[in-house]
Amino acid sequence: MSTDREHFSSRLGFILAAAGSAVGIGNLVGFPVNAAKNGGGAFLLMYALFVFLICLPVMIAEMAVGRKTEKEPVGAYKTLSGGSKAWGAAGFLGVLTPFMIAVFYMVLTVWIFGYIALTVTGNLDYLASANGFGEFVNSPYLFGAMIIVAAIINFILVAGVKDGIERASKILMPTLFIMLLIMVVYVLTLDNAFSGVKFFIIPDVSKLTPAVINGALSQAFFSLSLGMGILITYGSYINRKTDIVGSAKLVAITDTAVAFTAGLMILPAVFSFNPDVDPAQLSDSSVSLIFTFLPKIFLALQTSIGYIGASVVAAFFFILVFFAAITSLVSILEVPVSYLVTEKKHSRKKALSILLMTAGILTIFATLSFGMVSFFTEFTSYAGGVRSFFDVVYDIFYDTILPLNGFLLCMFVSYRWKKHKLSEELALGNANYKGSWVEKYINFSLGTFIPLIVFGIFINTVLQKFFAVSIFGF
Ligand code: PHE
Repeated sequence: MSTDREHFSSRLGFILAAAGSAVGIGNLVGFPVNAAKNGGGAFLLMYALFVFLICLPVMIAEMAVGRKTEKEPVGAYKTLSGGSKAWGAAGFLGVLTPFMIAVFYMVLTVWIFGYIALTVTGNLDYLASANGFGEFVNSPYLFGAMIIVAAIINFILVAGVKDGIERASKILMPTLFIMLLIMVVYVLTLDNAFSGVKFFIIPDVSKLTPAVINGALSQAFFSLSLGMGILITYGSYINRKTDIVGSAKLVAITDTAVAFTAGLMILPAVFSFNPDVDPAQLSDSSVSLIFTFLPKIFLALQTSIGYIGASVVAAFFFILVFFAAITSLVSILEVPVSYLVTEKKHSRKKALSILLMTAGILTIFATLSFGMVSFFTEFTSYAGGVRSFFDVVYDIFYDTILPLNGFLLCMFVSYRWKKHKLSEELALGNANYKGSWVEKYINFSLGTFIPLIVFGIFINTVLQKFFAVSIFGF
């Protein structure tokens, strides 16, 4: 096995990089709203159970496959299956998925960058206006913002694993934690903030419908960056002395803690802006929440802290989200970069330019999907609705393929690579692993109910998304 593969310099570096991947827009905005609308404390508890009982074993298995093979998904599946074509295809899906998810995530990151630029130049009122977002997504300046975001990503990734990804995570993640805490403390001082906290925390079990349970699991899966090949690839950069199980636990705890803390920022802000808001009315999509609702909330602060003060708070928030998005984007692009470097023997620099060009073109198409070009805006239609190019990428790769990749990984590890080999790998760096109940749980769950559940989600999503059919009654 190659020994010249670059490694993270320390366990902390690895944990911060993996947490950097996991903590993203989903944690900061999607999670709080989902939780408040869907049962508060009851949702939180269920989410935490899903994270630890279902997602954590998958996360651990991904890291183990990566470290064992020192390869990205294509190479990893090929190596451990003895060159099987079918498993090679599963690996390929593990590289294609992050590439395509990067496209839609890039669009959002570019928008956030645009929001920072507009708030610091005094245009918060424009962003909060009724047509603000609609005009913004059709602005030609977005292409300039795209070049800047691509340059930042390139700057980090070209420097490699230790000097690029790890260093960026070591700077951005602690900064993000501090900024988040500052925001929480500030928001909690606003009038009526505690009604938001109440909505977030007080349990309402009656809201836990099958659809909510399905949504919570998908959210947990996405939030931990599973099924995207990221943790296989990051796993390939950790040394054999690192305790994978312990590190994965810390990543999951950090991700969940950030999501929870973000709830203490978003919901009090929403309630202080409008004390009578009914959380059921809150928009479903994180997109409309960040880009249309939050600017209004920030603007409303001007009555107490003035327009400049309100703009500063808004800029602070968007920078926080931007940092979270950049570390996620870096991690997701590292998968195809690593594929081109390991399998296709390109230099990092060349791999990056190939990727930024190809993903860049698709990102331009996705950016044009919001009205600028009707071919992309009305790209296709299914399940009774017109879908844009952006929607198609989102529906296929984010919503549908992620659970499929999770399913394939569980089957691969349990029945092709074999559980005892997984155990051997996980025992490196963790002398007490073999024979522990954690080992028993991981081996049992990965071969039985976890693949069953994620496969169920996959089938349900396909039927619902593309054929408008519900099988489980939701
Ligand atoms: N975990 C990220 C989030 O919560 C999702 C993500 C990871 C998206 C990596 C893209 C790349 O937003």
